Amino acid sequence: MRTYLVTGGAGFIGSNYIHYMFKKYGEEIRIINLDKLTYAGNLENLKDVENLPNYTFVKADVCDSEAVNRIFEENDIQRVVHFAAESHVDRSIRNPDVFVKTNVLGTLTMLNAAKAAWELPDGSFRPDHKFLHVSTDEVYGSLEKEGEYFYETTPYDPHSPYSASKASSDFMVKAYIDTYGFPANITNCSNNYGPYQFPEKLIPLMINNALHGKSLPVYGDGKNVRDWLYVEDHCKGIDMVQEKGRLGQTYNIGGHNEKQNIEIVKLIIEIVAEKLPEGDPRKAAVNESLITYVTDRKGHDRRYAIAPDKIKAEVGWYPETMFAEGIRKTIEWYLDHAEWMKNVTSGDYQKYYEEMYKA
Ligand code: NAD
Ligand code: TYD
Repeated sequence: MRTYLVTGGAGFIGSNYIHYMFKKYGEEIRIINLDKLTYAGNLENLKDVENLPNYTFVKADVCDSEAVNRIFEENDIQRVVHFAAESHVDRSIRNPDVFVKTNVLGTLTMLNAAKAAWELPDGSFRPDHKFLHVSTDEVYGSLEKEGEYFYETTPYDPHSPYSASKASSDFMVKAYIDTYGFPANITNCSNNYGPYQFPEKLIPLMINNALHGKSLPVYGDGKNVRDWLYVEDHCKGIDMVQEKGRLGQTYNIGGHNEKQNIEIVKLIIEIVAEKLPEGDPRKAAVNESLITYVTDRKGHDRRYAIAPDKIKAEVGWYPETMFAEGIRKTIEWYLDHAEWMKNVTSGDYQKYYEEMYKA
């Protein structure tokens, strides 16, 4: 039985990944989920797996080398999938320090622990032990010309404190690969959407606001472009890269699905209005009059778009979920999980929202 150490498994993509992996491999694998449970980590996301005998949760910080080393000492960890990070650009603009701590130093701690556990006396590494570092396309910066795409060879040019911290962590993983022959891969993925995403990010924030008849804050002219990928497709891509990718390589994972923010917001309005039942007083209130253009994000990257050619050619992965289908599934999930949304938006979220959107 292969044992996985998943970091940040209580967050959006990590929890979807754990669900995906148990669905795919069942009792063939064991998963240890290490998560600090920051504002973005939520054990409710894992309710349906928490009692599985092959699942263990450890509350710890990825910067805590003692806690991380202990997990490696007590278990034969064969796969690390490192999601844990501070992940929101707007928060990084307000408070960069924690991004450097968790994203850069936390990644270094994970690399050191895995290296110590896996390195053999001759400097080689235990066979079939692998580390996957989950990163973002934001490290490549902003595409200004139409028809341009991010490739694995695109030079790094991060602009936000978030993307700069992820770029630094990627470079540290690359340094371990080049210096020690450390058995790792890096994946750089485009914007994800789907169930369990914290409503500070565009899609769940707009769904939640629409459902509450609140204004829909669109930054700048609303024409920034993101390349949206359904989260389950990302999880499948991570697993395929780890099992079929060439060690030491980077793979870009993207949706081939570029959309302007304003298109997304209008589509959400349309689908939410359609899905609310007749007689629900919210139905009539969900319309385009809720759209409010607000001050642009500082340093706002204009366009991200990935050409997922390498992962398709080498690993056989491609984005399977069409956006028209994925966004409907996502909205239905939030409609069916009103209690989840209520729980994550109580308390600190209110403070964050008022502070962030007060202008
Ligand atoms: P998220 O913010 O939803 O979840 C992050 C998780 O990490 C949370 O469970 C949180 O509690 C945990 N965490 C934070 N700091 C920690 C620490 N110091 N120690 C241990 N755990 C800690 O993030 P997400 O959207 O699920 O993103 C996961 C990963 O994927 C990140 O590395 C992010 O950079 C990357 N990524 C995200 C996207 C996206 O669209 N969301 C796209 C590409 C790449
Ligand atoms: P976000 O979900 O924060 O992801 P990222 O910045 O990592 O791409 O934002 C996606 C896009 O939506 C980005 O161009 C910023 C924009 N946006 C808004 O217009 N309004 C909002 O309230 C938020 C959160 C984002």
